Amino acid sequence: MADATAGTIEALLQEQRRYPPPPEFAANANANDPSIYRRAEEDPEAFWAEQAKNLDWFKPYDRVLEWNPPWAKWFVGGELNACYNCVDRHIKGVRKNKAAIIWEGEPGEERVLTYRDLYREVNRAAAALQRLGVKKGDRVAIYMGMVPELPIAMLACARLGAPHSVVFGGFSPAALRDRINDCEAKVVITCDGGYRRGGIVPLKDNVDTAVAECPSVEKVLVVQRVGPTAKQVTMHEGRDIWWHDALHAEPWREVPCERVDSEHPLYILYTSGTTGKPKGVLHTTAGYLVGTSATHRLIFDLKEDDVYFCTADIGWVTGHSYILYGPLTNGATSLMYEGAPDYPDKDRMWAIVEKYGVTIYYTAPTAIRAHMRWGDEYTRHHDLSSLRLLGTVGEPINPEAWIWYHTNIGKGRCPIVDTWWQTETGMILITPLPGLVTLKPGSATFPFPGVSAAILDEAGNPVPNNTGGNLVITRPWPAMMRTIYGDPERYVQQYWSKYPGMYLTGDGARRDDDGYYWLLGRVDDVVNVAGHRIGTMEVESALVSHPSVAEAAVIGISDELKGQALAAFVTPRSGVKPSDSLIQELRAQVTKEIGPIARPDKIFFTAELPKTRSAKIMRRLLRDVAEGRVLGDTTTLTDPTVLADIKRQYEETET
Ligand code: WTA
Repeated sequence: MADATAGTIEALLQEQRRYPPPPEFAANANANDPSIYRRAEEDPEAFWAEQAKNLDWFKPYDRVLEWNPPWAKWFVGGELNACYNCVDRHIKGVRKNKAAIIWEGEPGEERVLTYRDLYREVNRAAAALQRLGVKKGDRVAIYMGMVPELPIAMLACARLGAPHSVVFGGFSPAALRDRINDCEAKVVITCDGGYRRGGIVPLKDNVDTAVAECPSVEKVLVVQRVGPTAKQVTMHEGRDIWWHDALHAEPWREVPCERVDSEHPLYILYTSGTTGKPKGVLHTTAGYLVGTSATHRLIFDLKEDDVYFCTADIGWVTGHSYILYGPLTNGATSLMYEGAPDYPDKDRMWAIVEKYGVTIYYTAPTAIRAHMRWGDEYTRHHDLSSLRLLGTVGEPINPEAWIWYHTNIGKGRCPIVDTWWQTETGMILITPLPGLVTLKPGSATFPFPGVSAAILDEAGNPVPNNTGGNLVITRPWPAMMRTIYGDPERYVQQYWSKYPGMYLTGDGARRDDDGYYWLLGRVDDVVNVAGHRIGTMEVESALVSHPSVAEAAVIGISDELKGQALAAFVTPRSGVKPSDSLIQELRAQVTKEIGPIARPDKIFFTAELPKTRSAKIMRRLLRDVAEGRVLGDTTTLTDPTVLADIKRQYEETET
């Protein structure tokens, strides 16, 4: 790792700028007493018990935590319902007519759902799912665009105690099929199509292709979003039902919230790991809601009249935790935008901020770098004075992008919370508390109160300050994943075996002399392309499934805009001639197997790949080649000339 990150550490060590909380912000902040850190550290369980008071429980829990590493149970013996906490309880009081979801469609429609509206719709959807046979414990797959029916569907599942598995709408039919089959979903919820940059994503057609190979699926519920003029879909008799028909098939009734145990599964979300097969990260109910709501309230400093806008897609964990569950548990107004940030023009996000008076804006560094590149004029024409707090997530933010965001969007007034976390962690773990922490651009600052982290060397010893190492979390936290669905051994092996009793994040980090954490990117075979998490092994499997490919190695290379991009080194089968058209075919193959987000930016053909004597591909050396570094140690290679050849070819193609 030292090789890959030495340059980054060097650059970050130069970062001297400091941004203390603006005094007025600090005075009114939800977290404004620095003793929160000490108190949580002295008694983490008491801290989390305090946070758990923000939920409504059907039955109080007996114990905060039962920890048999690596198996955790939080709020043991409690009973509750996530949908009740996100919806029902808010209509009993002053939030009844408050906007829960403000939605803007890409073509420009607007919809506002108050908490009462949401309650009405979620009950209709829950009744419809019940009629389709969905019961507590059944899995429901959801493959939709960013329309209000997506959170409605998720909440309806939660109401019935049926774990949902949302699959990002940019995944291919093959990827969708594998996810549905892994969790054996009984019902799939989709849309006829989704708008994206003026075009239409054929969601229902993709579902048709996927479900043809999914024996568990009994029914497909279809939201009409774009049709029938923009897109005709085929409805399969006996299997497919229109959402609007299903939701209005009987008079409105309240569907009682299922009382579920604290540890009842809330959802499964697939994410990329270091093997070819995506992992079904399982989150449960009570701990997840406590963790996401507490972090949302304290990190985003949520106030009753805030208009909160997270630009993620609900298909990723950021959308689950910080568009839906955290904000709605807190009774917030959460804004959802359906489409692309540059459609119809590059000022779309700022037009939305102005139009709805957004106060809190949460996005990814890649998006900020894109706005930087597009230029300031797109921000200048809009009144951004409603904003009071900014956030970032998904990848390390370079100080230049941080400063641009602070200056051009925050106008120097708004603190920025750089939040580090993962699908597996469920909630933000390393972050500033904006009223308490002096910011350093590029640093996610400190672990959240009650969270304990360390940076270790390969032998498990803490590294000295300003030295990179493996980031681990040394104590359980409420929203942590509970297992990998259907594969508990992989959960143990992947996350808890390298340093027993500690959670291995897969990220590198360093701590400076002031104790600030600086995230250095993944140290395993996972790549963050534009904030999207992609496993290099998945892309390799997709490439070798093409008949012309004998072998492939995929690596992440640094990319100015996307943070990282993918480069593939491909060995064709004998007799196959490398060509531009083969490159196109291979890119299409990856799109087919995974989706366009996983398409390699660069594909190089090579007669052989550099391997150790034990036949391991040396990806580290390929990274050296691709990033133009001096080659690292090549003595373990079977044939060092292979690498020299690749380097020569690579340099020739690059120039
Ligand atoms: C990266 C997204 C640096 C990290 C919530 C992690 C970050 C992976 C940050 C998880 C950040 C996320 N600074 N890196 N603030 N936030 N990451 O599962 O490499 O899609 O392991 O969850 O994103 O990606 P995932």
